[in-house]
Parts: sequence; structure tokens; C-alpha cells
Amino acid sequence: MSATKPTVGWIGLGKIGTPMAQQVQAAGYPLVVYNRTAGKLKPLVEAGAKAAGGMTELAAQSDVVISMISDDPALREVGAAVKAGIKKGALYIDMSTVSPAASAEVAGWINGAGASYLRAPVSGSTMLASKGALTIFVSGPKPVFEAHRPIFEAMGKAIHHVGPAEEARHLKLAINLMIGVTAATIGEALAFGEGGGMEWRQMIDIINASVVASPLTGYKAEMLKNRDFAPAFTAAQMVKDFDLALETARAANVPMPVTAMVRQFMGALVAMGRGEKDFFSYVTLMEDLAGLSARAKPKD
Ligand SMILES: NC(=O)c1ccc[n+]([C@@H]2O[C@H](COP(=O)([O-])OP(=O)(O)OC[C@H]3O[C@@H](n4cnc5c(N)ncnc54)[C@H](OP(=O)(O)O)[C@@H]3O)[C@@H](O)[C@H]2O)c1
Repeated sequence: MSATKPTVGWIGLGKIGTPMAQQVQAAGYPLVVYNRTAGKLKPLVEAGAKAAGGMTELAAQSDVVISMISDDPALREVGAAVKAGIKKGALYIDMSTVSPAASAEVAGWINGAGASYLRAPVSGSTMLASKGALTIFVSGPKPVFEAHRPIFEAMGKAIHHVGPAEEARHLKLAINLMIGVTAATIGEALAFGEGGGMEWRQMIDIINASVVASPLTGYKAEMLKNRDFAPAFTAAQMVKDFDLALETARAANVPMPVTAMVRQFMGALVAMGRGEKDFFSYVTLMEDLAGLSARAKPKD
């Protein structure tokens, strides 16, 4: 531990984990890093982070362990390794988008090892992550959150403590399913307008100046106009989040008919080989289904 700041152990240097860890590093926290694929450690290590040989070793060297990893199986694997090494009185924060059920399981393991656990899923893009401007929802013991607020402030602009247990997991999934459903609505509407002869770029500009414009439609406007679906968040990731929400809802008998239907089409997009494109490529599926695909397009 440094004189002023706790040592942070970071697990998961993927698309969003890397810029988030870089913000923590830039805020002056001593960093120990681990990524399953070692090649991704390079930017952090070159900037002074220490590479750990494994996740248990990383946990043993850290005051605060943070993970930003893919999904429930990853959380269970990472959680088990962290539990094996975490110091008594230390803290584990998982910031991934995972189910309340897997998160509660890991909470039990970490608390059983004498450490604290916070859930802190994030809302925002990789671009916002690189500016330290994410929205972060935290749930877990409030005094622990308050004591570690500066770490969250390194990564986020809006930070909300939303409850003592799995509340943040529910909120994150609720927001993501609205984002996914919005992509589906826009995809359907754009294919409709295109079929009716609207000029592609003009249509997107006018929609963004209309009453349905939102931060999301604005943020995705250039991607749509340029038909450049390089992923900020992939269709496969959106399917994962839909499934987490639907499974959580099913267990509690909460009906989610709109989410369930859009999940079918988002799944078809993945099945057609577009799972690694951004989820806003949903419009291309709607174009295919509307028979518009043969038409000349600026770029796909
Ligand atoms: N991208 C976004 O805009 C965004 C926004 C909000 C929330 N999120 C959420 O943030 C999380 C990470 O997203 P991402 O876009 O960074 O995904 P990503 O680029 O696919 O990165 C996933 C990370 O998890 C690691 N991982 C996966 N399985 C693992 C395991 N079993 N053990 C150890 N590490 C494992 C990967 O390691 P490897 O490098 O070895 O594969 C990688 O570092 C996801 O839950 C996602 O839903 C993403």
C-alpha cells in the first residue's frame, strides 16, 4: 500500500476494462494487473503497472481488487480465484454486467473470506470510459462505498449508491434492455424510411432533431450515417444482457414481452455472423428482412 492510496488489483483489460484501469492509474493508484490474454497488459505495464502471474496472486497483493470481465461464468471463475487470495478486510469490486444471481453467489464467497464486496456496473461507452466519464451504479455496504468513493470518481462522473445488495445489477440490466430495444426500434424505423425513399443521412439527421432524439440516438448517429459498425458494444454482448435480464425476470415472474421479442431478432443478427459488430447493426437485419439489402449502400 502506498502512503496515500491503496493498491488496486485490476482483472480484465478488455475493450472497456483497459480505459477504466488507465483512469485509475492516471489518478495515482498503484496498480497490479492481470488479463487472461497476456498481450493486453502491455499499455498498463508500460505506464508503470505491475503484472501479476495469476488472479489469486493479484488478490493477495491488493487492497482493492476490481474486475471488469465478460459474463457470469467469468465472474464465477474470477470470484473463486479472488476469494482464494484476498486479504481479510480488503475489498472486491466487480464492475461487469452480470446477473444478480451470480453476483450474490460471489458476494457470499468474498464475505466468507472476511472481505467486502461491492457491485458497480457501469453505463456508458468505451469513449466515455477513456474520459473517466462513466455513470456508475454501486450496491453493497454504504460505508464501504463511501470510504472508496475516490476510486469510483477516477472512472465516473455520475456515481450512485443504489442499495445494500444486488440493486445495481438490476438497474444496469434495466437500462441495457432499454438501450437494446431502442436500437431495435431505430433499426426498424430506418429500414422503413429507407424503403420509402428517404435519403439515409438526411433521415438520421432529422430523426436526431426530432422529439425522439436522445443522448443515445445522438451518440450513435455518426455510426449509422457512415454505416461503420465497428463495435463499441457488440450484438453478442447485447444478447448476453438480454438473457441476463430475461432469466432474472423469469425467476421472479416479471413479464418482459418486448425484451423477449427483440432478443429473438438480436439473436438472429448474431446467428447471421454479425455478433461481433456493434448492436446498432440491427438495422442491417431489418434491411435484409425488408428486401433492401441489394440496394447500393455507402459502406457496410
Ligand atoms: N464495452 C462497453 O461499451 C461496455 C459498456 C458497459 C458495460 N460493459 C460490460 O463490461 C464488461 C466487459 O466488457 P468489454 O466490452 O470490455 O468486453 P471484452 O472486450 O470482451 O473483455 C472481456 C474481458 O473479460 C476477460 N475474461 C473473460 N472471461 C474470463 C475468465 N474466465 N477469466 C478471466 N478473464 C476473463 C477477457 O479476457 P481476454 O482478454 O483473455 O479475453 C477480457 O479482459 C461486460 O460485462 C460488458 O457487458 C461493456
